Amino acid sequence: MCGIIGYMGPKSVVPILIEGLKKLEYRGYDSAGIAVVDKGHIQTRRVKGKIHSLEESLQKSPLNGSYGIGHTRWATHGRPSEENAHPHRDCTGQLVVVHNGIIENYLALKQALKKEGHTFRTETDTEVIAHLIEKKFRGSLEEAVRAAAAELEGAFAVAVLSVEDPDTIVAAKVGPPLVVGLGDNETLVSSDVNPILAYTQNAAFLEDGEMAVIKPEGVKFFDFSGKPVTKKIEHLTWNPLLIEKRGFKHFMLKEIFEQPEVVRDTLLGRISLDSGKVRLDEIGLSAPLLKHVRKALVIACGTSYHAGLVGKYFLESLAHVPVEVEYASEFRYRDFVIDKDTLVIVISQSGETADTLAALRACKERCAAVLAITNAVSSSIARESHGVLYTHAGPEIGVAATKTFTAQLTALLLLALNLGQIKGNIDQETSYALIEEMQRIPHKMEKVLARAKAIEDLASRFVSFSHFLYMGRWVNFPVALEGALKLKEISYVHAEGYPAGEMKHGPIALIDEKMPTLAIVPKDKVYDKLLSNISEIKARAGYVLAVAFEDDAQIPQHVDVVIPIPSAHPLLTPFLTVVPLQLFAYFIAAKRGADVDQPRNLAKSVTVE
Ligand code: G6P
Repeated sequence: MCGIIGYMGPKSVVPILIEGLKKLEYRGYDSAGIAVVDKGHIQTRRVKGKIHSLEESLQKSPLNGSYGIGHTRWATHGRPSEENAHPHRDCTGQLVVVHNGIIENYLALKQALKKEGHTFRTETDTEVIAHLIEKKFRGSLEEAVRAAAAELEGAFAVAVLSVEDPDTIVAAKVGPPLVVGLGDNETLVSSDVNPILAYTQNAAFLEDGEMAVIKPEGVKFFDFSGKPVTKKIEHLTWNPLLIEKRGFKHFMLKEIFEQPEVVRDTLLGRISLDSGKVRLDEIGLSAPLLKHVRKALVIACGTSYHAGLVGKYFLESLAHVPVEVEYASEFRYRDFVIDKDTLVIVISQSGETADTLAALRACKERCAAVLAITNAVSSSIARESHGVLYTHAGPEIGVAATKTFTAQLTALLLLALNLGQIKGNIDQETSYALIEEMQRIPHKMEKVLARAKAIEDLASRFVSFSHFLYMGRWVNFPVALEGALKLKEISYVHAEGYPAGEMKHGPIALIDEKMPTLAIVPKDKVYDKLLSNISEIKARAGYVLAVAFEDDAQIPQHVDVVIPIPSAHPLLTPFLTVVPLQLFAYFIAAKRGADVDQPRNLAKSVTVE
């Protein structure tokens, strides 16, 4: 995830950077660093570890400066170490960069820059940014950053300074967030508003393709073509929850839109594009232990349970271990049988769900290990498990889980690949293909989100319906369950999710013109089977809306409405198919005037049984 901060103003810069980094620490904490400019010289301090280690180092040997930048890191390329910590330098050491994101074409850029004589000191993708800006520099940092940005592919939020263009911090973004705080004679730039709030309530949020040029006299905004941009200055209130809504009507809608970023953040630092390997050393379970796992037992509640069901397909396909998925509330009271070869995987976004915690405790001493997949650092479930695989979804305020679901799917896919690689059950070609495709998933999710208006219009036509059926097969069967759950919990409309093959064993009796069916029909190995299931519904006057690949020329002849998604690797389609279902549920609920973020009778974190 990484957090970045910059300060230009009359106050002492080092304490401001440190306090800011502490507020950004949730974004990553394997190493940290700052760079400040003092009388024309850049001074940097970087440490492996958390911000308090950086603080201790600065207490022992203080730095002073008039302006500067800082970074707290979540390793992506290159292991956590002092050398790989930001800020990164160019060849001269006169220019430094902090970066949040991932540069996808860094290898090609690195090779080209090396050939041109640039010397690299680290394994990071960020270092190419420093050298690229160095190459483009002709006296104006603003122009050099702009020229470099044109050659960077991937996601980046950066803050850069160079003593060759003094009293200037340039910030730019494509992807990760950057906000500029406009105070009295002082300007801050940061990954989120929290570090800014202590100094000013006026802030401008950079959009993708925009940059801020910060000088002692103030800040100017430009787009990447160099055209000045007039930014809306937002007045931040002191209610952090309100701040986070960022113009969306509800948190849930904002969180649905955050999913591409959340998937990127959960992948960051865990996959190597060079080797095709997934690295999960951080989870705290050793490779020999994982190698000997012969079975997995997934335990969860609610949406996390649905993620676990998708995880079953991932783990069985990629790691070749048998998997059972259980509701925590049922499992804990069963006379369950587990053995020392079983890996128990507990999934909980909050890390505090009482039933899941109880189930964890019940099997902790009887299995090989318990691995938690959670979004809450240091939560009870994280603390009590033998290992933890964190999702990086950020705080989810909407009670109906959305972004934590896709973050959990990401974590489960990483785990399945990692386990498959450790056990030697997955070949390199398959690993590469899935890792490459997984890199493309966030962008494909953005394409689905770009069609939100069409889904809103579609939802308008179904606001008054009282019953819906959701159906899918194979890896999209759990998505049918999740789509139905979303509609139920926020709009209070009855919906059922079914594996499409089971329709003829009961649910098809419900079908009439008043009960529409949402069918999930990507082109996969059960596509033809699903078309047959759809025909059976159509033959009974049922109305069918299909989530299907946009390039599927066949599907429009079989259904009433197509909700298109980009085509993708069949195993990874749940990342895409769930998004229109979330949006459909959201718009129906919002149009019915429901309290979308706080549905009746529900709670975000269920800490009672
Ligand atoms: C509650 C929430 C759901 C969530 C479930 C499990 O019911 O409203 O959104 O899926 O708990 O929560 P957990 O924190 O364990 O994932």
